[in-house]
Amino acid sequence: MTAAAPRRSRISRVIAFAPGRANLIGEHTDYNDGLSLPFAIEEGVRVAAAPSDGDDVIARAIDRGEEESFPLSGGSRQRTGGWADFVRGTLGELSAAGFDLRGAELEIAGDVPEGGGLSSSAAIEVALCLALLAIAGLPEPEDRVVLARLCSRVENDWVGAHTGLLDQLASLFGEHDRALRIDFRTLEIRPVPLRMHQWKLVTVPSGEEHSLAESGYNDRRAECELARRMLGLDSLRDARSEDLVRLPDPLDRRVQHVIEENARVEATVEALQRGDFAEVGRMLNASHASLRDLYDSSTDAVERTVGRLLAGGAAGVRIMGGGFGGHVLALLTPETSLPDDARRVAPSRGARLLDVE
Ligand code: GLA
Repeated sequence: MTAAAPRRSRISRVIAFAPGRANLIGEHTDYNDGLSLPFAIEEGVRVAAAPSDGDDVIARAIDRGEEESFPLSGGSRQRTGGWADFVRGTLGELSAAGFDLRGAELEIAGDVPEGGGLSSSAAIEVALCLALLAIAGLPEPEDRVVLARLCSRVENDWVGAHTGLLDQLASLFGEHDRALRIDFRTLEIRPVPLRMHQWKLVTVPSGEEHSLAESGYNDRRAECELARRMLGLDSLRDARSEDLVRLPDPLDRRVQHVIEENARVEATVEALQRGDFAEVGRMLNASHASLRDLYDSSTDAVERTVGRLLAGGAAGVRIMGGGFGGHVLALLTPETSLPDDARRVAPSRGARLLDVE
């Protein structure tokens, strides 16, 4: 149960937590109305908030030792490329949506690696939202999809990354021991039991950080949009393999990835239901090959990491998240030993208030 925020006058402190996410499979499908299978992880971002008298929000990024003050409306949309864009954007979007915020002091701290494909961005947006609403004595919107959309506007319009809803939905709807099959056309979220038995899911850093706003991510999204228009479709969810001949390179390869990745999500859900982890591993490898060869979103550092893990006995390894660096996700057989730089990931609870005083 999420702690409820009490009435405005009585609140002296809240702590909100939002997790990062891993994505088992279904990459670059969210903004194409497709399918994904992410889960929230244990690591995330914590925002501690206390009310203040003024009309400003003073935020401290604990890990960086930095502090900045913001008007409640968020202020200028001028990007600075750092953590302050997230605070400005969350304030701006909450205010624009009509939430009557109040002045506060915030402390932000997290343990999700930044630029690592584990969604530190969504974690900070979601944790800020929950903290700012709670400290103002405002209830969360009944449907958390509203918050996911709001956080996605922060990312798109204030941070400059044209991302979909994958990360925010995973952070907000995460469940213990379950992945989430998300259909981005209907926004239906179906929990899928993910009990690993002796198998292990781990993330391993490629050693290369990425920034979604600056990587090829926005280009890929624009290519998908162009392909959609050329095919005259409402979304690439409706694309069929027969359509590919009507597209020039590289658009045909981008769309082929989307069509096949959606099918791999369904096949992975079925394999999990049968407890067939070897098949899940094959799906992860196929997803990676597609992201490398059709979507062109891998890098040399990622390829070296994937190769090392496969040589060490992993059943499946793939680049995760937006790509162009970051962490890879590996499925290890019961016999495979954990590499030194690997962190186990397990499906965990979604965003919540940890404490309200
Ligand atoms: C990033 C984005 C998501 C999604 C993935 C790729 O994580 O934030 O919206 O597009 O990349 O699947």
